[in-house]
Amino acid sequence: MSITRRTLLTTAAGAAVAASASTSTTASAAPFDVSDQASVSRTLRQAADYAVGKLRAVAPGVTAFPVGTKFEKWTYSQNGDWVGGFWPGQLWLAWLHSGDEQFKTLALASAEKLAPRQNDTGTHDLGFLFYPSWVTAWRLTGDAKWRDGAVQAASSLIKRYNAAGRFIRAWGSLTAPNNAGRVIMDTMMNLDLLAFATEQTGDPKYLDIAVAHAKTAQRTFPRPDGSTPHVFDFDPVTGAPIGPNTVQGYSPASCWSRGQAWGIYGFTTIHRRTGDPEFLATARRLADFALAKLTPDHVPVWDYLAPQAPNDIKDASAGVIMACGLLDLAELTRRPQYRDSALRILTAVSQTCLTTKSTRAEASVARCTRNRPAEDGVEVSLPYADYYLLEGILRVLDRAKVDRAIDLSSV
Ligand code: GLY
Repeated sequence: MSITRRTLLTTAAGAAVAASASTSTTASAAPFDVSDQASVSRTLRQAADYAVGKLRAVAPGVTAFPVGTKFEKWTYSQNGDWVGGFWPGQLWLAWLHSGDEQFKTLALASAEKLAPRQNDTGTHDLGFLFYPSWVTAWRLTGDAKWRDGAVQAASSLIKRYNAAGRFIRAWGSLTAPNNAGRVIMDTMMNLDLLAFATEQTGDPKYLDIAVAHAKTAQRTFPRPDGSTPHVFDFDPVTGAPIGPNTVQGYSPASCWSRGQAWGIYGFTTIHRRTGDPEFLATARRLADFALAKLTPDHVPVWDYLAPQAPNDIKDASAGVIMACGLLDLAELTRRPQYRDSALRILTAVSQTCLTTKSTRAEASVARCTRNRPAEDGVEVSLPYADYYLLEGILRVLDRAKVDRAIDLSSV
């Protein structure tokens, strides 16, 4: 069944280019030529236009938050789960790209539905939920209600800080003992909401906690080769480190590609907010590991160190997230090779992972994997892949628009 679906999705995605037939070597051959800027821009603009056209067709019928596809149709969460920020986020980017006012109206209506979550102390995902939706709404409309709600979400998030271990707890309600000492790489992406709250309120406590968490993650997650586990466990009472673990990766010793991508993007962002060169160095180490593991098709395998890797299930979401981080990294390190790598990934996803040949698909990006160990969402579409594809492409085509949405400035 899943093989049939994957085969169909791959076919629907327009069949991989010849490069993807060879997946057993690393990317040193770099088959996606990005030296012709005009050609790269054309490919990326077509992909962005495709994504925006898809949203134009699908979004008016969407009244909740897409979480993933089943046979190419969105399934939904009413409260947003952890992904509720990406739908309004995409709509905001579609508005900036197209100027079509319909997207602004839809973005505002979708963001509004997240309002109850600003008081949710039961998850670390408040950055994912409130940055691309409410922070962006504030930046684009100037309505203080969005800023105040985002700051309230940051106040909820810092309640999850464990002062003994200097980390933000990932999962579970604050009173639940299970997972009390569990830290995951994904949290790096939630820290920018805290930087925003400090910037807006002048109260350093938010950014202080973000930096403390980032330093703990920096000390414990990266291995000498630059790979990272998905999870690191601590004793929740003493704060003492216990060791690596995983939930969405293959094993505690493996490297889940989306977690690695969250780390690349997240460490680069916290460097932008602090100027701390060690965060940038960490982002580089993680990026260098992931780039060395890319196959010539430039679409990440779901886990770089799974036994079947690189000949295993793909996760295009890891690719587009990593591409956004690499574009930032290129600017901050002044190393154009990171930009070239980002362009190759975005070009590859645009040419081999889009749903362009499907008449059913409601999403833009196919070949993403939500949770391989749980066999939950294997090579499907995911809202964060669609969001980061658009963010990545607009970073290339019109950086100022992305800066308007999510603040690309550095201290
Ligand atoms: N943050 C959860 C995931 O990336 O699947």
